Amino acid sequence: MPQEQTHIPFFRPSFSEDEERAVVEVLRSGWLTTGKVTLAFEEEFARLTGARRALAVNSATSGLMLAMEALGVRSGKKILTTPYTFASTAMSARHLGAEVAYADVERDSYSIDPQRVEDALKKDRDIAAIVPVHIAGNLCDMDAITGLARRYGAAVIEDAAHAFPSKTEAGYAGTLADAGVFSFYATKTITTGEGGMVCARDPKVADRIALMRSHGINRTVWDRYTSASASWKYDVVEEGWKCNLPDVLSAIGRVQLAKAWDFYRSRSAVAQAYTEAFSRAEGLIVPPDGPGNAWHLYLLRLDLDALDCDRDTFAAELQGAGLGISMHFIPHFELTYFRERYGLRAGDFPNADAKYRSTVTLPFWPGMSGEQVERVIAITLETAKRHTGRR
Ligand SMILES: Cc1ncc(COP(=O)(O)O)c(C=O)c1O
Repeated sequence: MPQEQTHIPFFRPSFSEDEERAVVEVLRSGWLTTGKVTLAFEEEFARLTGARRALAVNSATSGLMLAMEALGVRSGKKILTTPYTFASTAMSARHLGAEVAYADVERDSYSIDPQRVEDALKKDRDIAAIVPVHIAGNLCDMDAITGLARRYGAAVIEDAAHAFPSKTEAGYAGTLADAGVFSFYATKTITTGEGGMVCARDPKVADRIALMRSHGINRTVWDRYTSASASWKYDVVEEGWKCNLPDVLSAIGRVQLAKAWDFYRSRSAVAQAYTEAFSRAEGLIVPPDGPGNAWHLYLLRLDLDALDCDRDTFAAELQGAGLGISMHFIPHFELTYFRERYGLRAGDFPNADAKYRSTVTLPFWPGMSGEQVERVIAITLETAKRHTGRR
């Protein structure tokens, strides 16, 4: 069979005519930018998650920057996160002139290690906010982290880019701290192509985010043109940015939001099939799966002591057999900008380094067919067997 027919992509967005209809409706309405559809999206998101306020933004990167700014991260201050995350977790702080401190992840998960958080808070009084990242949708220990934050006087901003919908007895991830930020980037659990949502607890923080996402203007454009007291007048009261989410994208978001739990159930079933197959195989380590896991990604680890090859060889062979694979994440000590700015060395983050060397992200999305799931399993098991048999 030709490669195109057999190739299984790493991810495919799940859309139907519902999203198409919602977009066409907005296109025909005469109002494309942030307006009543975005307001409805924010209200529906807040209602579902129990967030006090939800504010739609054009990306999680913007959302992180806005939440950090509203919670006092600025020049002379630092955020604390892990090197095992996407660039934007740290870059959002740099946009504010703030610096980044790093703590290693736990030995058996991709989550920031609360013990390392405490070590950092003890010695560094400039840390204004801790930014735990719920990698792949598996939750960090939020009780421990918020407890430490209270003790040392830091804010907590959840990077929940991967964690929708993640729900435990404590509530939805992204609503468990001072602020939480979700991503609707093209490969996320619900998507608008680009986009994000910031949830904030304190109404003053939410108001500040709303102001700063829109040029520091004191009235929204929707309000200026459509409210009963419509008036062209406005004032610029702060040095803000432009980070709003337009109605065209919010229309897609509302439809995706309504399907979020169906998508979750479908991804969970795929994850269960993978985990069942891989947990019995020599050379493979299944991902951590704590309460409330959103199953955004399936991060398979290789037991490098049991295999006669490294991760790159293993990944290349999966790719050669027609699987679209990825790697989450290249840690910041491997990225020139962060390594050089902060003098990061892999040896200072042994847990993140070990995970980076042994992880591969498998094809994973809610609409995968049974045949595709079986092929991913078969190819992965065959590859592992080829590399354990010779020992
Ligand atoms: C952990 C994490 N944080 C933040 C982001 C930024 O999301 P966005 O692309 O919506 O800015 C991403 C995006 O991939 C991510 O993986």
